[in-house]
Amino acid sequence: MKKKIYLSSPHMSEEGYELEFVHETFASNWIAPLGVNVDEFEKEIAARMQMKYAAALSSGTAAIHLALKYLGVGEGDIVFCQSLTFSASANPIIYQNAKPVFIDSDWATWNMCPEALAQAFEKYEKMGKLPKAVIVVHLYGIAADIDKIMEICNHYHVPVIEDAAESLGTTYKGRPTGSFGKFGICSFNGNKIITTSGGGMLVSDDEDAIKKVRFWATQSRDQARHYEHSEVGFNYRMSNVLAGIGRGQLKVLDKRIEKKTQIFNYYKKHLAELPGIAFMPENEWNVPNYWLSCITLDNGGVLTQMDIILALEKENIEARPIWKPMHMQPFFKNCDYVGKNVAEKIFEIGVCLPSDTKMTQEDMQRVVETIIYSQHVK
Ligand SMILES: Cc1ncc(COP(=O)(O)O)c(C=O)c1O
Repeated sequence: MKKKIYLSSPHMSEEGYELEFVHETFASNWIAPLGVNVDEFEKEIAARMQMKYAAALSSGTAAIHLALKYLGVGEGDIVFCQSLTFSASANPIIYQNAKPVFIDSDWATWNMCPEALAQAFEKYEKMGKLPKAVIVVHLYGIAADIDKIMEICNHYHVPVIEDAAESLGTTYKGRPTGSFGKFGICSFNGNKIITTSGGGMLVSDDEDAIKKVRFWATQSRDQARHYEHSEVGFNYRMSNVLAGIGRGQLKVLDKRIEKKTQIFNYYKKHLAELPGIAFMPENEWNVPNYWLSCITLDNGGVLTQMDIILALEKENIEARPIWKPMHMQPFFKNCDYVGKNVAEKIFEIGVCLPSDTKMTQEDMQRVVETIIYSQHVK
């Protein structure tokens, strides 16, 4: 069996930064609850994302959930959510007994289409039912056109949650994604650009909101010597050990972005001649983190999406289709969707190529050669 090449696997620093922070927790026996690493990791992520405050949580999903709760999303409410995304962007809407309305993507960003969003607002305004929140995603590390989206949402006075789970380090017009809306969230899940094995962060400029979220995430324990609860609570906090891994990982975030950029440029250079190929969008106002390098293969080409995925699989190389849009998912089949099926098309023809930062030059060459060769054997 040939060496496995992963899509995006955990990559601890060669310097051992993570272990140093973790050792400190062992030495002080401050394994849990919370502790110095959690406090410092919150400050470091807030600084990196240019937001004032952050709450370290057990996952990005938990961060979206508590952001929605803070915004008062509840039974019978609607929330506009980008359709082309991972289900974790939309599931917390259901946890709050609200209903998602899915918004299409555009070709320029693959993310929420401002025109479709405006259309959805017009439609729901006429029905006298504006959404309680809008969830916009910066998919694969590409920034959404956030200025346009913010302008529309501000016009209707509807708060924005930016799902930056895949875009830590990405900038839009020089500012980090996740810093434009009322809330930003990131994820430190195992496949993300940096990982704590599992974890997330909610960021905001609103100190009261972050304090409240920390309270809810720690089982809503009121100030009392005994255990007193006046609200429902959640066990959503990050442990001090995992925050230590996160602090170490954050030190190498820029290195990881550099490598992911190199991988993307390598594919772009060596696969440019493949018939029907197009690369994920690049915009002058956006510096992506290139979390995953994605391509599309249009009908005119010889190869289809599945040809490439299967050819790579045979060589023990991991590749995947683009996320299946939420409005196409059986679970969400009764939800409204506004758009022109761009997300659907990207899903049909898109492929995520291996973007693992541990890939060597030889590994990248193997990926490219497998794809090019598969064209000749078809
Ligand atoms: C776009 C998107 N949103 C949300 C999440 C949820 O993050 P987590 O796995 O930390 O809950 C993920 C990744 O897992 C994601 O890719």
